[in-house]
Amino acid sequence: MSMDIKTVCTITGQVRRRRKLCKFLFFVEIQPTDNSPNSQIFFRSDDGSLDDFSFQESLRACRPGQVIQVQVGEPHNPTEQQGKSYKVWQSNKPVSIIVPYTDREAFLQDPPLGSTIPKKKVEKNIELSNGVKLSKSSLVCKYWVNKNTCERGELCLFQHPVDEQFEQARIQWLEEREKNRKIATYNPDDPHQSKKPHGLRAIIFVEWVRKTFAKELEKGVHNYNESNASEKSVVLDVAGGKGEISYVLGRGFGIPSTVVEPVKRKLPNYWFTRLRRLMYRFETGTMEQPDWKSKEIQVDLMTWPCNVTPTYLHTLLDDQFLLDHAELVSSVSLFIGLHADQATIPIVETALKAGKAFAVVPCCVFSHDNRTRQLKSGELVTTTEQQIQYICEKDTQGRGTIKTAYLDFEGKNVVVYWIPNLF
Ligand SMILES: C[S@@+](CC[C@H](N)C(=O)[O-])C[C@H]1O[C@@H](n2cnc3c(N)ncnc32)[C@H](O)[C@@H]1O
Repeated sequence: MSMDIKTVCTITGQVRRRRKLCKFLFFVEIQPTDNSPNSQIFFRSDDGSLDDFSFQESLRACRPGQVIQVQVGEPHNPTEQQGKSYKVWQSNKPVSIIVPYTDREAFLQDPPLGSTIPKKKVEKNIELSNGVKLSKSSLVCKYWVNKNTCERGELCLFQHPVDEQFEQARIQWLEEREKNRKIATYNPDDPHQSKKPHGLRAIIFVEWVRKTFAKELEKGVHNYNESNASEKSVVLDVAGGKGEISYVLGRGFGIPSTVVEPVKRKLPNYWFTRLRRLMYRFETGTMEQPDWKSKEIQVDLMTWPCNVTPTYLHTLLDDQFLLDHAELVSSVSLFIGLHADQATIPIVETALKAGKAFAVVPCCVFSHDNRTRQLKSGELVTTTEQQIQYICEKDTQGRGTIKTAYLDFEGKNVVVYWIPNLF
């Protein structure tokens, strides 16, 4: 049941502290810009004053450091005010961001309102998942070891090692994190249990694309050579970043490819050297690092197998792109997107509409920007796995099944692909 909070006043001020107490209750402590005293504002969904969506929107808008404006009223539960020396409000109105907090460093939050004496360092224990209890002072602070800084400073109960001890602690922490990541991402269905490094993903993807879409690529190159179109390509490499995939396709295998990427990135010489070396390892079938100083290898690396350079279009794949580059879109045989962020679903939808093959490797979902995406079961699409399912559930109008496969590299490695049965 929805419950309204009668507006008493509007506060404009900086969020000095934000605390989420549980998934339906958070509060902020705000410093008004008109110099009136700091106060506390509750936001909650358990009393029906906010729905889950508005609760999340308010939480996001109330980022510490941000200057916000919000209408507030007396708390629904009057006991919230009891025993507090500062004013407590509640709000169920939309929060406007007046000045966003854009600093790369996290905002250093104030101590809780009403706490005048700084907290003393009191020895505390934590319990590990196996039940073992350890004192915090025997463990290294994860903020310190990650960023070499900790906002609690002297008051932090964990260790802040320096110099050599810091380096050792960091190596240990990175190893531990990698081990935990492997445990957390373990997937018994994935046939690649000892995967290649993430840095090789573009070249591994190209290998897979060449094998999987051999017929489409062959036909695409043939059509390309025959076509008089002013804008043409064989592969549309959407959200291609620097264009690694397209470069390998073109200079490695003679397949014309167009990179659609809004951000223009620098392509330094070392980038080409790294790519050429990667290609070499694939050409020679050696994943081990050869002796790059050897004269023979250096001569081999001076040229690329083919002379086809990719084209770059520094723009988004969106409806306007489809209008502006209709000729190009109709000329290509394959749409690809490796970790293509917000472009993943547009790639799939454009390819399906045009009846062209596609292969995407989904990663981030951006569910907040795409709240209408739902599975047939009614679930919202909020995880990569759900996004994969969402793509697989798309209607191919009887032109073949959308499939998935695992690629042999660390990180998000499920490729979702479609080969229209037109051939
Ligand atoms: C995580 S990066 C991946 C880059 C590259 N594919 C790789 O794997 O290294 C995602 C890229 O998607 C681009 N991008 C986001 N939305 C896009 C869109 N609608 N059309 C084209 N590119 C987009 C971003 O600019 C960014 O470079």
